[in-house]
Amino acid sequence: MNSIDKQKVDVVLGTFFGDEGKGKVIDYLTSKNGYTVNVRANGGNNAGHTIEVNGKKHVFHLIPSGILNEDTTVIIGNGVVIDPEVLKREIDTLKENGISIDNRLFISDSASIILPYHILKDRAQEVDRANEKIGTTGKGIGPAYADRANRYPLKVSDLVNNYKVFAINAIQVAINDLNYKKCFEENNLNEVEVSNLLCSFSKEYSEFLKPYVIDTRSKLYQEIKKGNTILCEGAQATMLDVDHGTYPYVTSSNATIGGILTGTGLSHKNINDVYGILKAYASRVGEGPFVTEEKGEIGEVIRKLGHEYGATTNRPRRCGWLDLVALKYACQINGINKLAINHLDTIGKLDNFKLCIAYNYLDQKITPQNEQFNIRNYGNYEPIYECFEGDFSLEKAKDWNSLPKSVKEYINCIEDLTETPITLIGTGPKRENIIEIEKPKVKILKPYETSY
Ligand code: GDP
Ligand code: IMO
Ligand code: MG
Repeated sequence: MNSIDKQKVDVVLGTFFGDEGKGKVIDYLTSKNGYTVNVRANGGNNAGHTIEVNGKKHVFHLIPSGILNEDTTVIIGNGVVIDPEVLKREIDTLKENGISIDNRLFISDSASIILPYHILKDRAQEVDRANEKIGTTGKGIGPAYADRANRYPLKVSDLVNNYKVFAINAIQVAINDLNYKKCFEENNLNEVEVSNLLCSFSKEYSEFLKPYVIDTRSKLYQEIKKGNTILCEGAQATMLDVDHGTYPYVTSSNATIGGILTGTGLSHKNINDVYGILKAYASRVGEGPFVTEEKGEIGEVIRKLGHEYGATTNRPRRCGWLDLVALKYACQINGINKLAINHLDTIGKLDNFKLCIAYNYLDQKITPQNEQFNIRNYGNYEPIYECFEGDFSLEKAKDWNSLPKSVKEYINCIEDLTETPITLIGTGPKRENIIEIEKPKVKILKPYETSY
């Protein structure tokens, strides 16, 4: 591998609990840089990536967010779990909107299939968890990844190569697994009905998927050899990662940089820029610790101003403040070298806003720098905040110089404490609502009340 290969692959990842605006940034970067390929690496239709272009809002759950750029080929990588029914609906919607996917969409033969009983089990498990719910999206993600780890025959290649054998295997798993049996009983489905359902599912979606299925890993390397560029798309985010997140309140895949590598087959040596996406505040949907959460009125105000309702489940998102200790953790784990911060317009509508710059924990202070952050203790941390002036408009802002003073102070503080530059600023939901900023030579820093 030579050094030129390394320049070809960039990555977009979420830094908190998801919904940071990854879809918007991927669409923006794809349209600006003209990536040849956009490949999605992990998760399934638990993701909801929103893009607004030419007055139209699109929400993608499985299709990579670069699809609106007609010169970009999109790939669903091997790390993704695919509900083919959802994928079919997304493709139909794209066609209705006049967006061609012919020869532009490829699906890995090594991706895995979400079966109807994975969805039943996901929902039944949540009911069984009673007061310890995870708050999953109910899309079958956990059970599908669990069956993949159990090495059941779930691969896309299994389905498209021989749908009859695929159906027989799926029926066997369904009938022999006591948990699945329980789900069928609860849904008044007998064995014959389950078998018929799995047979027709396998036949229909084997035919549907076949035209798109290839070895995407080898395609990615062919593109690199041709000198083409690739943008990798992470779903979910660092704090939801099955290893590095707030386990057990996480999703079931690696939403960090490791998941990009295993979920596409690309090598770390190919990777150039890693963009970490964040919001100027924070949100979480589902259960689990969230130390900068505002549970009262202010949380409600942020939710309303930011329209924080889930793109997949429409659930109200829990809202709070940006947390630089957690952000630094995300930068470290993922090797993030560029940050993109969305929703600065939203915090500008508040009179003032907070930024978590450290935690108190027992008799210790945990800062972004002192390497004391431990994800297992996260729920017990007490945030220490710095306050910033809000009440600004970014409507006329187009570069660093035209940003309000408090925004400059805020950005400088984030950059200083995470030791990572912010290169993109989101000022609204549309593709064009992004400002690229050049690193300022002289930094305006707030005279901090809390020294950090
Ligand atoms: P993703 O899952 O990371 O792609 O993010 P989502 O699409 O789930 O949620 C982000 C939401 O914020 C969407 O409704 C976007 O349209 C919206 N959004 C993204 N960036 C901005 C921004 O800079 N300002 C505002 N007001 N909305 C934004
Ligand atoms: P994007 O890509 C926000 C959350 C769920 C739940 C937990 C486990 O749009 O940022 P799962 O269904 O994956 O088993 O649920 O993870 N979750 C997300 N939250 N954005 C997402 O994706 C999410 N995908 C899963 O709410 O707390
Ligand atoms: Mg989302």
